[in-house]
Amino acid sequence: METLTTNNAAAIDMYRPALHYAARDTWLNDPNGLIFHDGVYHLYYQNNPLGNVWGNMSWGHATSTDLLTWTEHPVAIPCDDNEDIFSGSIVYDRTNTSGFGTGSVAPLVAIYTSAFKPGSEHEGIQAQSLAYSLDGGYTWTKHANNPVLSRRSANFRDPKVIRYDGGEGSYWVMVAVEAQDFKAMFYKSEDLKNWEFLDSFGPANATGGIWECPDLFPLPVDGDPDNVKWVLTVNLNPGGPNRGSAGQYFIGDFDGTSFTSTSTVTAGLNSTDNQGAYHWLDWGRDYYAAVSFNDAPDNRRLMIGWMNNWEYAKHIPTTPWRSPMSLAREVSLQTIDGNLCLVQRPAGDWTALVAQEPFSLAETTIDDGEQMLPGASGTVQRIDVSFTRGSAKEFGLVLRGDGAKGTRVGIRPDEGQLFVDRRKSGQTDFHESFPSLDTAPVRSTSGSYELSIFVDRCSVEVFAQDGQVTMTELIFPAENSTDLTVFATGGTATINSLQVMRLE
Ligand code: FRU
Repeated sequence: METLTTNNAAAIDMYRPALHYAARDTWLNDPNGLIFHDGVYHLYYQNNPLGNVWGNMSWGHATSTDLLTWTEHPVAIPCDDNEDIFSGSIVYDRTNTSGFGTGSVAPLVAIYTSAFKPGSEHEGIQAQSLAYSLDGGYTWTKHANNPVLSRRSANFRDPKVIRYDGGEGSYWVMVAVEAQDFKAMFYKSEDLKNWEFLDSFGPANATGGIWECPDLFPLPVDGDPDNVKWVLTVNLNPGGPNRGSAGQYFIGDFDGTSFTSTSTVTAGLNSTDNQGAYHWLDWGRDYYAAVSFNDAPDNRRLMIGWMNNWEYAKHIPTTPWRSPMSLAREVSLQTIDGNLCLVQRPAGDWTALVAQEPFSLAETTIDDGEQMLPGASGTVQRIDVSFTRGSAKEFGLVLRGDGAKGTRVGIRPDEGQLFVDRRKSGQTDFHESFPSLDTAPVRSTSGSYELSIFVDRCSVEVFAQDGQVTMTELIFPAENSTDLTVFATGGTATINSLQVMRLE
């Protein structure tokens, strides 16, 4: 096992994010057990408490009241000689259906995957287990009769449990994956301890890797509470649209037993043929294992993803910690050009973070070439920009630049493409697959393109066309790469408006 490198940590911790959660000095991957409870957002996560590469999988824990600043707590559910604690979810068992509650205290119940270790009674099996908390999520006790749901499978994992209240009644529903079969497996329970199989969904759409970390939630269409659709998200590794890990979603219905998709392009195993036609949660390289909060206030559907990619996860040059989480995103279902689409917007009160008067630019023509914007430089920024295409083949911004280096975020209007080019973004040579030019389809009927871009010390998250398309990517620029530049190639483009907020 690689151990922590803490020497000179202050000097080399320049990538520690300002807007994103990262553990103090350890490894993390998938967000787990996301729940809003008693006014607090709880973020548990796959954590190696003893190192900064994957291993000793336990549930780490952090909390926030604003989704922007996080406090780390002691490990919530540690691994032991018998099992690693893989991904899962947490529910608030209000009416104490599980019986774990005492007196007036209703329990929080974690449903996680036990990845049983060699030598244990269930060696080689992944099955679903329970732990409960009676102090609001800070300390946890494992259930004595784990696991509660086993298929005697080596790849049955990542249970997401929700409360179903619908035509069929009111009960707990679990969706988990049979990872290598590309199947989402649905179960029901009255007490979280006894589970009955309902149905499965898949294979469908992207099946180029294994399926992991599913989620299932209802959303009103265009905000209409009388028109509710269900969304099933499934993460895939590898087989994403720009290589490696990524998440896809299906829109359809869940009737309490079965999920039926109306957004399936290909049923069955079709590897990577139709990448462009699938619904991707994010087209960038670094948004994986995204799941949503249970019990978020005002029925908001808030998601967080792991900002890394299994292709190079353990090589990213951060120390002593490794891997940040994404920003929390609020997702909604909207009809766009007659099609239903999951729209994503950054959650959190951004105005509270603005340190000084924003830099802004009114309508400006960008000539062929690059124009640096003095006064718009920074390392932690929110950039809101609106472009109208002109004769240029591509146009956009270079962020975290220094003249020679920088991350290019732009539009190729003829190709209908949004791109993030991180080939010269800074440190890229720690893994051969990291330097990349990644693309996503983006449409504009009016010829204008709106981008909201969140830049942090080691990441860029692009929300295009008001959140219809997102791209999330890690970057590792030098501390003094702070320039912001606009560019057009092979002609002109117009900036309709540009606003840069410093969020340091
Ligand atoms: C996804 C994943 C999950 C598993 C966890 C183990 O990144 O492979 O399927 O539960 O990570 O850390």
